[in-house]
Amino acid sequence: MASNQELLSVLLMIITVSLLFSQPRQIHLLKMCNFAQIYQLGDSISDTGNLIRETPIGAASPFARLPYGETFFNNATGRCSNGLLMIDFFALEAGLPFLNPYKNIDANFKHGVNFAVAGSTALSTHILEKKGISSPVTNSSLDLQLEWMHTYFNSICYNHRDCVEKLKNSLFMVGEIGGNDYNYALFQGKSFDEVKSMVHDVVGAIKNAVRKVIHYGAVRVIVPGNFPIGCLPIYLTGFKTNNSAAYDKYHCLKGLNELSMYHNDHVQKAIKDLKKEYPNTVIVYGDYYNAFQWLFHNAPRLRFGVASLQKACCGIGGEYNFNITRMCGAPEVPVCVDPRRHISWDGVHLTQEAYKIMARRLLHDIFPQLQCLV
Ligand SMILES: *[C@@H]1O[C@H](CO)[C@@H](O)[C@H](O)[C@H]1NC(C)=O
Ligand SMILES: *[C@@H]1O[C@H](CO)[C@@H](O)[C@H](O)[C@H]1NC(C)=O
Ligand SMILES: *[C@@H]1O[C@H](CO)[C@@H](O)[C@H](O)[C@H]1NC(C)=O
Ligand SMILES: *[C@@H]1O[C@H](CO)[C@@H](O)[C@H](O)[C@H]1NC(C)=O
Repeated sequence: MASNQELLSVLLMIITVSLLFSQPRQIHLLKMCNFAQIYQLGDSISDTGNLIRETPIGAASPFARLPYGETFFNNATGRCSNGLLMIDFFALEAGLPFLNPYKNIDANFKHGVNFAVAGSTALSTHILEKKGISSPVTNSSLDLQLEWMHTYFNSICYNHRDCVEKLKNSLFMVGEIGGNDYNYALFQGKSFDEVKSMVHDVVGAIKNAVRKVIHYGAVRVIVPGNFPIGCLPIYLTGFKTNNSAAYDKYHCLKGLNELSMYHNDHVQKAIKDLKKEYPNTVIVYGDYYNAFQWLFHNAPRLRFGVASLQKACCGIGGEYNFNITRMCGAPEVPVCVDPRRHISWDGVHLTQEAYKIMARRLLHDIFPQLQCLV
């Protein structure tokens, strides 16, 4: 006979499943977790305004100007999109306000802090330099973001015990991060094999970051993987080839997608190890790769323009509406009329519409694993 415990978990499963399938668009699943705060580490996939505040280089970047932000804020916020990012949709779903960037010293951090910096890497600038790779946009890599986080927690907690108590209802996002490490290496002429040989160290840095946030007091951590980068205009343009065997049936570059999968396999293996190391912590993989693939493969049904699936909305030239020397935000670079029908915003980052759909897809996968109802 089933124990009460088993009955209870079956009941909770039924509740979860029925909530998941009943009117998914109206239900804010993440609200059931009652998260008080979200803390984000990462790069341009989640930066809500750090890069444009941290240095003159950041302030001069196109992310500080329209057309970035044209759709949602009608102003540039430092988000690398026409509007909201996945982390904004996660916050909305959790019933929380948008996360303020750490570098906004006037901001309210009651509901969390966003430490992500566009252009940042998982490996420190110094380590990348030793591999012959330069980090052109920012030096605020994952280790530095963790230091900011540590400084911040020291400022709000009396001691470690207090921090553990304060953070028990928080959600931690460790990534996406690492995409730029490979991006810089690839565009600075490293071979695929050389880039592949970086995966061990990149994922090692991510794994250590998860350990650190757990030591600060995190009990729920999401660790996202990388996108299928071979489907993005920047890579399709940069690695364009006449060899048709290099493309899959969706016209994505197989070798680059394999690199992402290789990274993602390592991330999932790292999560498996971490779960053994920290059995009382909930650590969930954020499957950005498959969420993107799902979006991409279902794009016509999701009302994206079929002819523009791999064309940047904001950009110019070539097969993918992308030219690395004339990117979105540069003079006279046009913006598409309806960003809602595009997946790619600027050839590197996605549109608000694409991020919204990906975020919903991801939450349905992640929410049950967060174990908020048990
Ligand atoms: C636009 O954003 C900048 C900071 O990025 C801010 O200084 C400015 O006041 C904003 N303008 C409007 C009209 O909201
Ligand atoms: C990174 O740090 C180096 C050395 O301190 C400095 O020269 C460089 O300008 C920094 N890069 C950026 C993008 O801030
Ligand atoms: C592809 O083929 C065309 C015509 O055969 C040639 O002009 C072009 O240089 C080739 N491009 C690459 C990237 O190999
Ligand atoms: C990219 O833009 C530069 C500068 O306008 C131009 O010289 C170059 O031919 C363009 N490249 C492609 C692939 O369109």
